[in-house]
Formats: sequence, C-alpha cells, structure tokens
Amino acid sequence: MKFELSLKTNLFQLSALSVCFLMASAEVKAQNITIAIETKSNALVLQADAKKNLNTIYFGKKLSSAAEYDEVPSVFKQSGEYTSVLSSPYTPSGSKSLMEPAISVSHADGNNSLDLRYVSHKLSKIDGDVSLTTVVLKDPVYDFEVTLYYKTYFKDDVVEQWSVIKHKEKGNVLLQKYASANLYLKAGGYWLTQYHGDWAKEMRPEESRITHGIKTLDTKLGTRANLFQPSVFMVSLDKPATEDEGTVLYGALEYSGNFRTDIELDYLDNLKIISGINNYASAYTLKPNEEFTTPAFLYTLSSSGKGNASRNLHNWARNYKILDGKGQRLTLLNNWEATYFDFNETKLFELLKDTKKLGVDMFLLDDGWFANKYPRNGDVAGLGDWEENKTKLPNGVASLVKEAQANGVKFGIWIEPEMVNPKSNLYEKHPDWVIKQPKREEYYFRNQLVLDLSNPKVQDFVFGVVDDLFTKNPELAYIKWDCNAVIYNAYSATLGNQNHFYIEYMRGLYKVLERIRAKYPTVPMMLCSGGGGRVDYAALKYFTEFWPSDNTDPMERIFIQWEYSYFYPSITSSNHVTDWGKQPIKFRTDVAMMGKLGFDIVISHLKENDLKYVQDAVKTYNDVKSIIWSGDQYRLANPREGSVASMGYVSTDKTKALMFNYLVNNRYDEGSKFPIRLKGLDAAKKYKIKELNLYPGTNSSIDSNKSYSGEFLMTVGFNPVVNSGRTSVILQLDEIK
Ligand code: GLA
Repeated sequence: MKFELSLKTNLFQLSALSVCFLMASAEVKAQNITIAIETKSNALVLQADAKKNLNTIYFGKKLSSAAEYDEVPSVFKQSGEYTSVLSSPYTPSGSKSLMEPAISVSHADGNNSLDLRYVSHKLSKIDGDVSLTTVVLKDPVYDFEVTLYYKTYFKDDVVEQWSVIKHKEKGNVLLQKYASANLYLKAGGYWLTQYHGDWAKEMRPEESRITHGIKTLDTKLGTRANLFQPSVFMVSLDKPATEDEGTVLYGALEYSGNFRTDIELDYLDNLKIISGINNYASAYTLKPNEEFTTPAFLYTLSSSGKGNASRNLHNWARNYKILDGKGQRLTLLNNWEATYFDFNETKLFELLKDTKKLGVDMFLLDDGWFANKYPRNGDVAGLGDWEENKTKLPNGVASLVKEAQANGVKFGIWIEPEMVNPKSNLYEKHPDWVIKQPKREEYYFRNQLVLDLSNPKVQDFVFGVVDDLFTKNPELAYIKWDCNAVIYNAYSATLGNQNHFYIEYMRGLYKVLERIRAKYPTVPMMLCSGGGGRVDYAALKYFTEFWPSDNTDPMERIFIQWEYSYFYPSITSSNHVTDWGKQPIKFRTDVAMMGKLGFDIVISHLKENDLKYVQDAVKTYNDVKSIIWSGDQYRLANPREGSVASMGYVSTDKTKALMFNYLVNNRYDEGSKFPIRLKGLDAAKKYKIKELNLYPGTNSSIDSNKSYSGEFLMTVGFNPVVNSGRTSVILQLDEIK
C-alpha cells in the first residue's frame, strides 16, 4: 500500500513535472521568432529564442507548411550545445561563442567582447522575383549593431547575403573580422570542391571530405587576387554530388580583392561557412555612425546535383549581374600572339583586312601600342604612359579606328590602367602614386608595380585613361582591361591608416568602374588578369566577359572551361583560337566556340583549307551563338572521368540544341564507345541531328535524315562517333515540326 502510494506520488510528480516542462517550452515557443528566408526550392530559417539569441535552425529543401520549421530543432537531438549560439547566423566573439567568429571587434573602451541579439526583421519585395530580408542584431551592452541582408532571387534559388555594421559608441571601434555571411549546415558528411592554380593553370579542382577543424580558402594577393585560388567553391552534403544527383551548395564572394572563407566542421558535426573580406592586415577602424557594408556572399543550394545549381547561377548571372548579360557580344581577331609587341601601323592595317577576311566583328589591338620615353616594346617598360607610341603608330589610334571602319569591322583596345613599370614617365612623375614600401627594396611582378587606387588622384588618372581613349575615339568599340601584378610591399603613400589599404584599394577600383559605367554604360569590356586572375561577380557587374586563362591549348581549355562553367555562363567566357597546343585548327576552333569566340592567329599563315574552315566556322557560330549564350548548359560527359568530353546547350524553348564532343585521351584507341545521354530536351519532341563545322573535304558519319525523340536521346543517348580520326565533333539538334 505504502509502495503503491509512493509510486502514485512519483507518477503524479512526474506528470506535474512534464506539464511544467511542456508549459515552459510552450512559453518559450510562443516567444520564439521564426524567420523563413525562402526561394523556389529552399528555405534558410532563423529563429530567435526567448533571450533573443538568433540561430540558424534549418537550411535545406523548402517545406510546404512554414509552421513546421518550428519543429526542426526538436528532431535534432544534439546534446552538448553549451551556449545556445552555436548555430548563430553571424557568430560574434569574445562572449559565449568560442567558435570561429564572423565578427570580432574591439570596442571604443578597449573591451573585446561582442554579443548580438535579435532586435527586428523585415521582408520587402523588390519585384515579383527578388525580395530582401533584413535582420537587425544588437549588442545588449554596447551601442553596436549589425544588420544582416538576405537578397533572394526566387526562381533561381540564389541568395546574396551581406551585412552592415555600425555603432554609436563614444569613440572608434576596431573591426578585427567582419564577414559577409555565416551559414550553418547539418548533414551526414560534407565534401568540399575547391580550386587552385597559377598563371596558365586556372581552375584546377580538388574534392575532399571535410574533417573536423577549420579549412580556410583565401587570398592575400590584393590584386590579381584569384591567381592561386578563386573564392568559388562547392560543398556537397551527405555524399559527393554528381551532375544530376545529390545536395550541393555553391558559394562565392562577390569581391575582387582579398577574400577569406572559413569552413568549420564543429564538434557536433555541423558545418559552419563564414565568408567575407580577408581581415589579413586589415583591422578596420569604424567611426561612430559610419556604416561598414560588406560585399555580398553569393550562394545557391541544389538538391538535384551540380548541373541544376550551375544553371540557376547562369540564369541569375545573365538576368541580374553581368553587364548586358542577355545582350550581344562581338567575335574578334586579337593580335597578341600574332605579333606580341612587334607591330606598326602597316602591319595592323593588314590585320584589319584579315579581320574582315575572317568574318569576325572586331579587331582587338593588344599590349604594346603606347609609351614614348620608354617605349612599350616588351613588358619591361612603358606601362603607365598611355599616349600612342609615335614610331609604331605615327597617326595614333584614330587612324586605326578609321581604317577599321573602312574595312567594315569594329576596333577594340587593350589597357592595363592600374599598373606601372618603374621604367615609365608616370613612375618618374608620381612615385607617390605607386604601391611600395618607402624604406624597402622594390619587388616586381612581371616587371611592374600596382598604382595606389586608394588615392583619389590615382582614381582620376585611371578613369582618365579610359575616358581619354573614348573622347578621342568615340567609335572605339571594346576594351580589354588587364591586371597583371599582385601587390607586394602593400603601402599607400597617402592613406592615413595602412590597415585600410586593401579595402580602400578595392573601393577605389569600384569607384573608377562606376564612373566609367556612368559615362559609358554599354561598351563591352573584357575582364582579364594575366588570364583568370580576377574573375568574380563583383567585377562582372562592370564587364561583359572575362579571359579565363592565357592557356589556350585546346586540350587544357576543355578542362579549364569545364570548371568555369559550373559558376559562370558561356556568354562570359572569351575563348580564342591560338597556336597553343598541337591540335588541328578544327579542334581548336570547336573548343573556342563553347563561349564567346575569338581568334589570335596569323590569318595570312593559314593553309587554304584551314582558312576556309575558319571562315565557315565563324558563319556557323553566328547562326548558333544564341543557343550557347542564352541557352541552358548541360555537362554531358566529364573529361576527368572518361576519354570523351561532351558539353550540351539547349535553347530555352527546347527546339534547338548543340552537343560539343572531344577526344581527351587517345590511348588504347579510345573514343565514344557508348552513346552519350543528352539532357534538357523535350521528351515528346522529335529531333534531327546534323554535324557542324566539317573540315573541307570530309564527310560526316552522322545520318542527318534520321529522327529521334527527345525521350530516346535523353534515355538511350546518341553516339557522336568521336575517335582518333574524329577528335572533335559538333552536333546540332533541330526539332522536326
Ligand atoms: C596578359 C594577358 C594576355 C595579354 C598580355 C599582354 O598576360 O592575359 O592576354 O594581353 O597580358 O601583355
């Protein structure tokens, strides 16, 4: 009896306890504030608890009932969350969190602690597709505030995230770290795809399982910042994603200077990704009421593999980011590899005739056209002196523009306005405009130094280089903007606070580009940096295209272009046919056609059939370029996984498609032994297939009279018949109505 009673009491106590607990959790729940940031397929969900600690509670596929996000934390039974801020969407340092911070500060009074609590949030619609969620966070002790910005592009599942930091303390605050974004992911394992490289070796991928601790992807080069590593990366969740399967996050910082991305697998097996400007040598002094706006961190999450993620990014980039992303582009003949620095007006007049003969839209005059005191006859002198070299061009650029017009082609020109050779008039006149340490020996990259764009006078000068060219030659149709050096001995002769140097350099560069675009909004410009040293979505706002690499060996290019294609649409990829590599002209041209086609060869040296081939190829390219530039891109056969590379493009209405196929390994008589499955077609449509770009005198083994359903081509596939006799095969698919 006694026993029974005590059991009853215990039961009663237990149930009273659980009621208490339930009430408490209901209370907490009632006080929770849940913020769902949604796109077409995904949701990033933040939640503030009763104490206004804000955490990321979910990032993944969208749920149909937003109310259910509140249940997410309860099903993750992760004990050992000691601080209740482990999954903070913007991790502060110096208080409870001891993990890698997104922000780290020293307050005006010298105190190093920061705590950020939820204050408010707001969702505003920018248009039918784009929305902006802002979340205001404040330190309960200091008058210090961070606003998180999430700009969502609904249809493309793309998010741009940045933060604005400000304070009203009684003195300056030192920002030691100030990231753009801080994501928090939960999965059963994480795989990172990152890129590394060097000159002519851009975009070399490495994939590895992420282990506990922190992996940092960064650059400290200042300019040409991506030379060794770009900021683009992928993280696969649960298992390595493939082209069409798996969950994968693509990330990139929209910034052309020093970046830093910390990827931390924490003790609870969750993944934190913190990305922003690199704080290396850049502690930023923030005055009261000054706003520090970080660049945007760009990301897209796909639960159906890498292909979907890349097409979302391409659409977003063409619609919202790249200058004139859906416009036209000019095919061109460039003289860099044809002449290097060795040319004069007569030679260029001949090349202008060749431009017309080839059938491309424009002639692009490269490096070497300027400087007189120290003529630019090599890369050792003249950079910075942007007046025409009188020996090479006695009648100036104007006569070349005129001659181009007489030939019915456009004229474009190369500049590298951020840089200077010590052997130049500019260097002698303005040594204080040059980035160098006052008391140290100068150290050069490609015999040159970088101009100090943090100095407004230098900004005026760089703007003036472009403005002068257009003022004198209003018909000028194109600029190739190069940037060949990294910043050694970082120091500005005019900047008060050297810790602001790297940031002020970038602000200066963007100010110049803003001014150029305000005055010349549409002129196409190529973003070049000794190859792909500056390819990022902050710069591409001002540029129509980029130069992926000086390496134009078509075999290498198949791989380089393949990797860029995950992040950037083909319309931005300037691909030139050159004499690099051993492949025949057909192979070289076919590879260059997967993007924006150009040539950098001596047309007069081409054999008759080679010339005929390229002339026809230019015409064919003009017929199909809209599919490459604005169609959907599908990677069909990965050159790293087999002997054949295959890339597909499908017009948005699915009536036309292109399939580019290449032999990338010819050992053991390799070739396309199996059909390659097409993607993105309309299963119900019927297509006929014809071969393009046939070399004069050769016949295609493809029967263009046959027709196939989209279903067949996507399920069974089609064999382009690639082999050692047909190393490069381009096919066009047309709907049969
Ligand atoms: C860089 C570019 C090249 C060419 C040279 C000219 O290397 O990447 O395409 O313009 O400069 O000096």
